[in-house]
Amino acid sequence: MRGTLSSNRPGITPEIELSRHIPEGERTLPADVRDGLTAEPKAIPPKHFYDRVGSELFERITRLPEYYPTRAEREILETRGAEIASLCPTTELVELGSGSAEKALLLVEPMLATGDLRSYTAVEVSESALMSTLEQIGASHPELAVNGHVADMTRHLGQLPPPEASRTVALLGGTIGNFAHPSRKRLLRAMGGLTGPGGHLLIGCDLVKDPEVLVAAYDDSEGVTAMFNLNLLAIINRELGADFDLTDFEHIARWNPDEEWIEMRLRAKRDLEVTVSELDLNVGFQEGEELLTETSAKFTPERIATELGEGGLEMTGLLTDSSDRFALVIAEPTGA
Ligand code: AVJ
Repeated sequence: MRGTLSSNRPGITPEIELSRHIPEGERTLPADVRDGLTAEPKAIPPKHFYDRVGSELFERITRLPEYYPTRAEREILETRGAEIASLCPTTELVELGSGSAEKALLLVEPMLATGDLRSYTAVEVSESALMSTLEQIGASHPELAVNGHVADMTRHLGQLPPPEASRTVALLGGTIGNFAHPSRKRLLRAMGGLTGPGGHLLIGCDLVKDPEVLVAAYDDSEGVTAMFNLNLLAIINRELGADFDLTDFEHIARWNPDEEWIEMRLRAKRDLEVTVSELDLNVGFQEGEELLTETSAKFTPERIATELGEGGLEMTGLLTDSSDRFALVIAEPTGA
């Protein structure tokens, strides 16, 4: 499913090439909510957090004193951009999840400075988020070809065009940690395929550290992460006609030392029943029962190398921030 549309806004941005891989109007929320609320234990995938309110709350999270990953990653990009550009010689930069344009520019500018970079491509499920990033990048660097794919990185990477020259595929922000096995391995392998031989992957990985620091990053004192987590129920109420009372649930963030991930959950404060009218579904929660809403894996360099190997990739670089909280990992397809 793809078509090419162009946004032509003379005087504002150069032309942006847009391809759509997700059919207009496709919804994955109904099936995910049906499966997730009837599963044992209950779970809903974290990709549904990001409606307008959820995206704003995530922006606030990135500025919280306890939430270090965004700042740590930015520090690496700001201080070592030239080194990254020389370790990843790049004609085509492809970013999965369009993130923030300011962060993307921290890669684009040193890559332009080497004289190689010709194009910036973003792959993102939300067309509005995608266009906003592409317009900012295009406006800052009209010399760059700017392309967008409205696509789900877990399903559509195989539909993207192969590299014409040296390509770097970036997945920043620690998003790789939100994929559990086996989907993480599949994603790494698909990223290697998209990169092609001779290309590079650049992956932001949050690192294992003191559990207290980790838990605080996901259970901040202002309660912004709690609002972000509870907003998922508001999304289900609005989109699927459910009747969750948000005050019946509390936000939980827990470190799981066996899996080495942070788990976010919503815990029912009392026995209750929820109706999801669009799904003709009634679901009971017992007091204390938890709905899993996100896992955010934290990595050791050893585990990163192992998992890359399982995905047919080899780690060729690891750059950390000055407090060793977060890593930008560089990898190459081995052809295996
Ligand atoms: C930045 C999307 C990877 O797991 O840290 C922040 C999202 N969830 N606080 C993360 C998130 C709760 C997040 N990602």
